[in-house]
Formats: sequence, C-alpha cells, structure tokens
Amino acid sequence: MPPAGDKNPAQEGDGALARQGNAPVVVLSPEPGALEASAASALAEKLGLPLRPASELSEDELVLARSHEALELWAGGEPRQGRARVEWSQRPGPGRSPGEALGQPLQRAIGRSLGLVVDATAGFGTDAFALACRGHRVLALERSPVMAALLEDGRERALADPELREPAARIEIRWGDARQALVELDEAPDAIYIDPMYPVPTRTKAALPPLKIQLLRRLVGADLDAESLLAAALATRARRVVVKRPPTAPVWPGPLADSHTGKLVRYDVYHAAAPGRPEGP
Ligand SMILES: C[S@@+](CC[C@H](N)C(=O)[O-])C[C@H]1O[C@@H](n2cnc3c(N)ncnc32)[C@H](O)[C@@H]1O
Repeated sequence: MPPAGDKNPAQEGDGALARQGNAPVVVLSPEPGALEASAASALAEKLGLPLRPASELSEDELVLARSHEALELWAGGEPRQGRARVEWSQRPGPGRSPGEALGQPLQRAIGRSLGLVVDATAGFGTDAFALACRGHRVLALERSPVMAALLEDGRERALADPELREPAARIEIRWGDARQALVELDEAPDAIYIDPMYPVPTRTKAALPPLKIQLLRRLVGADLDAESLLAAALATRARRVVVKRPPTAPVWPGPLADSHTGKLVRYDVYHAAAPGRPEGP
C-alpha cells in the first residue's frame, strides 16, 4: 500500500467521474468488536479516511471495521446490516485439486501456461486466488484503496493458514490504476484478466446482486471506463487478454480470438499483436 497522502490518479480525473459509486467510507473508532484504537487511527491515516464512532455515522456511509480478526466492509455501524471481507477459504475437498475452484470457462480462457497473470480488476480477489490455486503467479491490481486494504488483510490471513499459504504466496497485491500499472510492468504477462463492475441495471424488478457486489457498487460504482483498460492491456506484450462480460453484452471492439460462455458470464479472449511471441496453449 502507498504511504498516506499519496494520490492515486484513479481517485481523481476521468476514472472517478466515470463511476457511479463513491459512497463515503469511514473507519470505525474503537468500540466492542471494532478496531483497536491505534490500529484504527493508523488505518484511517493510511487511507485518508475519517475515524468515527458508530453513533456518529450517517446513513450513506460505508464502514471499515475489524471483526473476528478480519478487516471488513460494513453497510452501516452494525455488522448485522451487512458485511463483506476478502475470504479465500475455498478448500478443494476430497478428490478435487485446488485449481478446480476456477470455473471451466475462465480456465479455458486464461490457458494452461503457468506464467504471470495480471488480474487488472482484483475486487475481492476471488478470481485471483482461484488462478493462484491453478499454479499461476498473479499480480492483483486494485484502484480502490479500501478494496486494496481488504485484499492485503485477506492475503495476510491466508498466508497464516497452512492450507492456503502456498497459493496466497503466489499473489502480489498492488494498489493503483491498472492502466498505469500495465505500462510499468517489468515482465510481459502471459495473460491479463479484466472483470469490471457491470453497469447497474435500470429495471426496478432486477434481483439484488449478492451482498459483496452491492457493497462494491456503493463503494466504486460501475467501471464505465473499462474499455480503456482493454486498450491498455492490448498495448502490453501479454499473450492474451481475457474480458469477463454478461453473456448477452456486446463484444468490445478489438482483436477478438475466442469466446467462452458459461451460464451467467462470457469470457472474451483477445490476442494482442505481439511480435516474436507465438500464441501458447
Ligand atoms: C467486479 S470487481 C472484480 C471482482 C473480482 N474478479 C473478484 O473475483 O472478486 C471489479 C473491481 O475492479 C476494480 N477496478 C476497475 N477498474 C480498475 C482499474 N482501471 N484499475 C484497477 N482496478 C480497477 C474496481 O475497483 C473493482 O474493485
């Protein structure tokens, strides 16, 4: 995480304007079940967020709080109002390999080569962790400093768990706008994965998404600038760029090579023109 006071370009300028979220976030000041006083103020300072007791929260505010040893995002001052954390606890179960947590269509879209995969839209890191379970090294990029803090906390807890340590150690988390980070990569990745927030449906009767997505929507909104992320990814020497889309959404323009459609999502695979880098498996 960057030091307090560092400005992430994505929090200002076109990125911020393009999103519908931006619900204010506060760090819960010490109360039963909340962060220890010094940890709470250190976190608030690091993220540049106000520190507030539950009694002084306003309705539109999201809350960062520590509960049961994990950093969580709460929908209000009480965990029962809804909470989410980064939880990489998928265990393979008898007879299954850890990589089976990764859905087949995504697995086919990313390919078998075990080089570096850049997850350009890390979110809660679920896909990043599933990719790491398949043996990929994953660079997980996240532009929301709140999500990046949740990811760091989830990774630390996974590193302390003997069953999750190995894949968690293959994940590096970096806070910042992926469009910039992709320009600064030291190594050409095998694949870049883009899973932007979908625009909020306008139908009033649409079913509510899972709580994690509801909170993420309040925090970051819709990633309406996501197509520019595809352009940035194609400009790298990555073997392939995979974009997750709703099954019936229009395909983004670009050098589309393949599409893998699952029940609820579609993975569009683009092959960037990469001189001297033949397409692998
Ligand atoms: C739908 S979520 C990703 C969910 C993720 N695949 C998972 O398994 O949890 C999209 C996330 O991408 C982040 N994001 C969108 N555009 C970004 C960009 N240009 N750079 C870095 N992060 C970005 C958003 O802040 C949000 O947290």
